[in-house]
Amino acid sequence: MTRLEKFAALSVSVLLFINACKKDTSAVSTDSIYVPATSDVTTTASLAELQQGRTLYVNSCGACHGLYTPDNFTPSGWTGIMASMARRTSLSPSDVALVKKYVTRGK
Ligand code: HEC
Repeated sequence: MTRLEKFAALSVSVLLFINACKKDTSAVSTDSIYVPATSDVTTTASLAELQQGRTLYVNSCGACHGLYTPDNFTPSGWTGIMASMARRTSLSPSDVALVKKYVTRGK
């Protein structure tokens, strides 16, 4: 490889890296995700659990890519996402369960 080729290769990897860190445009701001109300309560998710889940979701899951709305994925889609994303946070298993209740709307 010539010097120029090396420089070009390095520039491309730097650009790819910068691009990978950009916030995903499909993600939304905190204001756009639902605030739990009594109408959101289900047999498996109380209002307090949904509220705690929202707070944990906003604080722990928006760091790398902004927030996806709960409606972006099905409950089973969220199950897979939570399995891979929980590892990237410092959330305890019970906190992860609360986030999951929030994003799946208690499903
Ligand atoms: C350390 C950084 C980081 C944290 C923290 C993080 N994510 Fe992610 N997330 C990513 C990256 C990187 C991707 C891109 C896809 C991949 O690598 O799987 C992603 C992708 C996603 C997607 C899109 C999946 C798809 O199929 O389009 C969702 C939804 C998501 N994350 C939810 C969450 C939730 C919920 C949490 C909190 C429990 C979270 N993320 C925490 C880095 C993070």
